[in-house]
Amino acid sequence: MKVGLYYGSETGNSEMLCEDIETELGGEYDCHISSLADVNPSTLAKDTFYIFVTSTYGNGDLPSTALPFEEAILGQAPDLSGVRFAIFGLGDQVFAETFNHGSQKLMQMLLDRKAEMIGVRGLHDASGFDMPEDVALPWVAGIMEQLQAAKAA
Ligand SMILES: Cc1cc2nc3c(=O)[nH]c(=O)nc-3n(C[C@H](O)[C@H](O)[C@H](O)COP(=O)(O)O)c2cc1C
Repeated sequence: MKVGLYYGSETGNSEMLCEDIETELGGEYDCHISSLADVNPSTLAKDTFYIFVTSTYGNGDLPSTALPFEEAILGQAPDLSGVRFAIFGLGDQVFAETFNHGSQKLMQMLLDRKAEMIGVRGLHDASGFDMPEDVALPWVAGIMEQLQAAKAA
């Protein structure tokens, strides 16, 4: 199965995390990493499972590299019925009022366009003790189990 690992990042953490996820899944799945800056939401396909990884910046916004994707999905309003995804957010509880709002916003945009979410949104807190991959890799393992279970049902 094809897995698209799409990141929105300002300083590289989300991109590095996608590389870690690719290393974890690469033996079993056909993974492809891309910046959201290079993705047109209208091209999201039903035969691919998407894992979005994004940080939060500004006043609870998506990072600048993901803003063109946000603009396109709001402007084009594509019908994403049948597109399946999971989402992992990187944030920092120092920004308590906007903690991980970027991933929340992206999740809501995809759901509003009728994409199907697998599992719950994964969250990393840069103020905590865990590295992003310590949280994300077990989360990904659980997501892929749920995806396989959904396929078998
Ligand atoms: C200027 C600045 C603003 C930030 N704003 C938020 C925020 O509003 N909410 C949040 O949860 N994290 C916020 N963060 C934390 C980042 O999302 C976090 O450090 C993340 O790991 C960065 O990942 P990236 O390198 O992929 O962009 C901010 C960080 C910086 C430097």
